Amino acid sequence: MTYTGLLDKYRSILSLPKHTANITLYEGNTPLIPAKNLSSFLGRDFNLFIKYEGLNPTGSFKDRGMTAAVSEAVGRDSKTVICASTGNTAASAAAYAARANIRSIVLIPQGKVAAGKLAGAIAYGAQVIQIEGSFDDALSMVVQLTEKQPICLVNSINPYRIEGQKTSAFEICDTLGFAPDLLCIPVGNAGNITAYWAGFKQYNELNNTGLPQILGVQAEGAAPLVLGHLVEKPETIATAIRIGKPARGEQALEAAEQSGGKIIAVSDQEILNMHKKLASLEGIWVEPASVAGLAGLYKQIQHGLIDPTGKTVVAVCTGHGMKDPDIVTSGFTAPKLINADLAELEEIINS
Ligand SMILES: Cc1ncc(COP(=O)(O)O)c(C=O)c1O
Repeated sequence: MTYTGLLDKYRSILSLPKHTANITLYEGNTPLIPAKNLSSFLGRDFNLFIKYEGLNPTGSFKDRGMTAAVSEAVGRDSKTVICASTGNTAASAAAYAARANIRSIVLIPQGKVAAGKLAGAIAYGAQVIQIEGSFDDALSMVVQLTEKQPICLVNSINPYRIEGQKTSAFEICDTLGFAPDLLCIPVGNAGNITAYWAGFKQYNELNNTGLPQILGVQAEGAAPLVLGHLVEKPETIATAIRIGKPARGEQALEAAEQSGGKIIAVSDQEILNMHKKLASLEGIWVEPASVAGLAGLYKQIQHGLIDPTGKTVVAVCTGHGMKDPDIVTSGFTAPKLINADLAELEEIINS
């Protein structure tokens, strides 16, 4: 059967109001890619899979929640959606609003949004507004605004975002036939980890697929859930998870605890190292925040705190590498320049 998007496939098991329309870009259905080279590098014999969410239509997992949130908004005749964003939510909200022919407004922290994300939001026609403040400030502003004005908030506080994002857990179970032993996932505002846990629990109740342990991973400079307090000025090169006051922090902690897992932090250097390894060993290029889960797994293995031997592990890689090309090109020496001369080319590649 032709695939026609998440709501067509999973609507009957999602808690969405009856009025919910179907605004889709045929999101979801992303591959679960075996990563044998990387599991060898990690030094244990186990089945590692990458859930490559960067292959969604706007290049990140946000499309799963956005098809649900925008469809619900359109179904009750909402004409405008708004979000605060570190970039990916903005691009996704803008694309689904464009598809629905309604207005989108996005608030972003000044100078902290990767080029590929901002370009997307602009291309899809959003009204983009920068604020002199953090993501957390932007989120607080859009929450207050939507309490006053008839504009639909499509951040992950919106429950339909979580409903849509649960579908990734369903897909993992559909592909493997069961839940993995361990799920490694980056954590920012904590909507995604909340959604996965809800999705795995629901699928287990329906289909007896089991439950994974969850390893949630934050960046050290933006790790409120590890530190146990909010972070006023979060800092990390992984701009997507540069969040100091996660809206669903409590639920993330609950997910980790209930699953017998944990939330840990990794340094920017650990993120950059894993970013390079995943691309060079597996041909999977993702944006930096996306490898936080894998970097966390590596750290836990190195410290002897997790032994994945014989297990099935899924690492969720949340966004495509093309979202943040500067992270690669900024430290880059220009490629060698030669004359358009075959002999010169041969000399170089054979030297
Ligand atoms: C690429 C990427 N990874 C991870 C996250 C974190 O997801 P969440 O905020 O749901 O924890 C985000 C959020 O913007 C993201 O864009």
